[in-house]
Amino acid sequence: MKSGAYRPAFTIIAPYYDTLMSFVNYPAWVTYIENILMLHNRKEKRILDIACGTGICLELWSQRGYAVFGLDISMSMLAICKQRFAHLDNGPVHLINGDMRQIGFAGKMPIITCLYDSLNHLLSVDDLFGCLQSVYDGLEPGGIFIFDMNTVHCLRDEWGNSTFDRRDGNINSIWTNRFDLATYISTLEISLKINENGTTKTLNEIHRERGYRLSLIHDILAKLGFKSSLYRHLTFQPAQESDLRIIGVAEK
Ligand SMILES: C[S@@+](CC[C@H](N)C(=O)[O-])C[C@H]1O[C@@H](n2cnc3c(N)ncnc32)[C@H](O)[C@@H]1O
Repeated sequence: MKSGAYRPAFTIIAPYYDTLMSFVNYPAWVTYIENILMLHNRKEKRILDIACGTGICLELWSQRGYAVFGLDISMSMLAICKQRFAHLDNGPVHLINGDMRQIGFAGKMPIITCLYDSLNHLLSVDDLFGCLQSVYDGLEPGGIFIFDMNTVHCLRDEWGNSTFDRRDGNINSIWTNRFDLATYISTLEISLKINENGTTKTLNEIHRERGYRLSLIHDILAKLGFKSSLYRHLTFQPAQESDLRIIGVAEK
């Protein structure tokens, strides 16, 4: 590979993902989702997390007594997830290398989640529709799907056309965003400088996320037969286009 070339999303970043996400309060996210489950009277502790990544949330669910299943398209993210569970005695995790647009999961689940922008990585309405249809098919009657998404406002105005840098542990990173008004797709070039054993290596990845209007998300969910609510993330206030991140709760 030519130095400086950008690799596809979630390939070489996998071993560094947890460090890069160390600013996210995942336990608070899981507690919030548990509150949603309580409000919806969901008692069965079995959860499928699609686009589970390195399994940060799967571990938290497992520690809270849930039987956990994870699905992700990236072998390298799943490899880190597997390592995470190899050192835990909180019960087994069932991992599937698969595409959330065609979950094809044997058996129906009471709870499916999809967290941290993962649905934004689906870049066409057809792909989003296909994924939500697949989730619908994978839920048992009365089952619940809980997901978050970045809004158009977040991708267009907050990320916009900007470059910023961060330091997380031994990683310095530069994030360069470009938002395309015609497609609602944000292209994010991530450049990591990793300091290890006195040397620095550079790794580059390119990510793309699409913003979807709230009305479109509602329409697709309704068309599929879901009863849904969209909230401002980590609250129970109705979601608005001016929010940065929303959470969707969709009941079959
Ligand atoms: C930002 S990460 C989120 C990981 C995890 N959910 C979390 O909260 O940390 C997005 C994940 O979506 C996965 N992904 C992207 N497109 C996918 C697809 N079509 N099917 C399954 N997984 C996908 C990526 O491999 C990556 O692990």
